[in-house]
Amino acid sequence: MRKNILAGNWKMNCDLSQTQGLITDLKTGLVKDFNCELMIAPSHPFLYNAFNSTSDTLIEVVAQNVCEAQNGAYTGEISVDMLDSIGIKTVIIGHSERRDTYGETNELLAAKTKTALGKGMRVIFCCGEHLEQRKAGNYFETVTGQIEKGLFDLTAKQMEQVVVAYEPVWAIGTGETASPEQAQEMHAHLRSFLETKFGKETANNTSILYGGSVKPSNASEIFAKPDVDGGLVGGASLDAQSFLDIANAF
Ligand code: PGA
Repeated sequence: MRKNILAGNWKMNCDLSQTQGLITDLKTGLVKDFNCELMIAPSHPFLYNAFNSTSDTLIEVVAQNVCEAQNGAYTGEISVDMLDSIGIKTVIIGHSERRDTYGETNELLAAKTKTALGKGMRVIFCCGEHLEQRKAGNYFETVTGQIEKGLFDLTAKQMEQVVVAYEPVWAIGTGETASPEQAQEMHAHLRSFLETKFGKETANNTSILYGGSVKPSNASEIFAKPDVDGGLVGGASLDAQSFLDIANAF
């Protein structure tokens, strides 16, 4: 059975005291059980602090990025061993901001994914098309191409540790959201694409999250779609109440 997941991607926002404040607000608002796993991805310097301050909750602290190499001369990078040593068990890989701003290629993302899975971590693997690709009508090929190059070297067993996040780039941080129908269309397409490689059971068990301007006002109708198993949320996750309101949408 696949799980509902709501992950807050805090990106490069919040210093130490803001990170602590947001976590405190989240904890105060956690007055009931939600029908989803809750994850937050603060910036790397605050992961350890965030991990410790959420250890008495069901919130999982996850990383926004990781290096493909194990260790050594990689100035500025963070390894899976480092993350693992502070309790981090899940990492986001392939966010469009990593692909577009930092030139991370499908090959690099495939290597990062293997390294993270090799350490026993879970991966939230992001994919999504740009506006031009959507307009040109080749968005299915774009996104399945990213999935094929990023994930198709994995075994079905490894794939069990992967969550897919579909994030159309034109909807990220723009206020423009894919319609529930557009999200469902892509998620269903991705699921059948995963089935061609990993089989029906694995495809059915893979959580596929939608990301791109998810907010309390649109979360319910997006999450109601049968192939949408949750969300990867940027802007709206920086406010505890709106993040929890989104969690309530399941
Ligand atoms: P957004 O970001 O919710 O601010 O659009 C989503 C993401 O980039 O993961």
